[in-house]
Amino acid sequence: MNRRSWAEPFKIKMVEPLRMSTLDEREQAIAEAGFNTFLLRSEDVYIDLLTDSGTSAMSDRQWAGLMVGDEAYAGSANYYHLEAAVHRYYGYKHLIPTHQGRGAEHILSRLMIRPGDVVPGNMYFTTTRAHQELAGARFVDVINDAAHDSLDESPFKGNVDLAKLERLIADVGADRIPYLCLQCCVNMAGGQPVSLANIAATAALCHRHGIKVMLDATRAVENAYFIKLREPGYGDKSIEEILREICSHTDGCTNSAKKDSLVNIGGFLCLNDDGLAEQARNLVVLFEGLHTYGGLAGRDMEAMAIGIGESVQFEHVRARVGQVEYLGRQLAAAGVPIVKPIGGHGVFIDAVRFLPHLSREELPAQALAAALYVDSGVRAMERGTVSSGRDPDTGKNIVPRLELVRLTIPRRVYTQAHMDVTAESVIALHEEPQRVVGLRFTYEPKYLRFFQARFEPVEGGVVLRPSAKAAERGVVTGATGQ
Ligand code: F0G
Repeated sequence: MNRRSWAEPFKIKMVEPLRMSTLDEREQAIAEAGFNTFLLRSEDVYIDLLTDSGTSAMSDRQWAGLMVGDEAYAGSANYYHLEAAVHRYYGYKHLIPTHQGRGAEHILSRLMIRPGDVVPGNMYFTTTRAHQELAGARFVDVINDAAHDSLDESPFKGNVDLAKLERLIADVGADRIPYLCLQCCVNMAGGQPVSLANIAATAALCHRHGIKVMLDATRAVENAYFIKLREPGYGDKSIEEILREICSHTDGCTNSAKKDSLVNIGGFLCLNDDGLAEQARNLVVLFEGLHTYGGLAGRDMEAMAIGIGESVQFEHVRARVGQVEYLGRQLAAAGVPIVKPIGGHGVFIDAVRFLPHLSREELPAQALAAALYVDSGVRAMERGTVSSGRDPDTGKNIVPRLELVRLTIPRRVYTQAHMDVTAESVIALHEEPQRVVGLRFTYEPKYLRFFQARFEPVEGGVVLRPSAKAAERGVVTGATGQ
């Protein structure tokens, strides 16, 4: 067999030691955190798969870029470097930097939404929808049905359902729809990409009705990689070319540079319309900072400019998405129910199928994330009922079809061995799912509740009961050997 593997296109120059904890320590830490992995101290975490946001390892060139930060209040040289990078790789006319993605979402929502408007999108994202609602709009999901089905293996599960969109336009009228928010590698669907054919068709439909299309470009580079792999006609195109083509159909974007763009903080808003850009530059001064820094230090903008250039390198994206696939394949091979196809930024476990003994009210994904931490010190995140929040009109819990635990892989940070340790812990829990105890809320904040909510086990005080199997074999539980 002629087998040739890919390997990471970098070697490691500096290391950050990890602390392994004992089972007792982890049981105490998760109880103190109200069984919410967001409230754990990072020093108590062994392998941190909470998010791929702001957690990338920067390259030596990016670190060197920090040293040429021009910290002028106005007109920093680094702003112009960033502007050049965004023009080259994303292609939009106007760039407004922001401190991170939600800063751009805030400005865009305030700028374009009037109370009573409707904003369609290919599935919600938490901060995006929250800003749309704060500005007085209602979000309407127009993603295709396959996205809500963890078993459906369609290659572009992020696609917009054009019939749903057309119906919405007919129902509410195009003048109540300021823009459609088009997300790449749809996060809440499991990192599922959108095809270029669908992007083009969606944009054509919107533009025919005078509706703008705003890209959530947060993971557009990873989406471009999937297009190259899966969409006929794109195999020979570079990531750079595909990214430009995606953006060319849209009127602007919000971007969290903490993902694709390989920085620890940063984001931006782009607009092609001169008038809108002028208004956005005016708003950004109020909420973020002057339009040539938008809440960022000059050095941050330099790291972002360099990171954007690195992010579109084929070898980089292949290794990044390849590592996610490596973890996903191990879990799938062991029969763990995961969202298929494996997404771009993480592996998403279907907690309802993983924990059939729990009801939806017992918050299976929240419970599984907490139990995984107790087992091995791996920190994951709930993406289900808790993240969905409450309906702003009825106040009732929104119970989404997908109840997921996200194992999110930071870029360029962990090795294959870390993926192995993670897989072993998930598989061990999957062999004895009854060990996992359901949770209920003890505190629920008003906005984006998943970040700060607290919980308690519905019985017995612990979220993970001792392993009968491990006791039989005479070993102690926990992938860290504790
Ligand atoms: N859009 C998408 C698709 C995102 O995934 C995020 C952040 C944002 C916008 C907001 O950007 O965090 O820079 O303000 N996602 C993170 C996550 C928080 O863990 O998925 P931000």
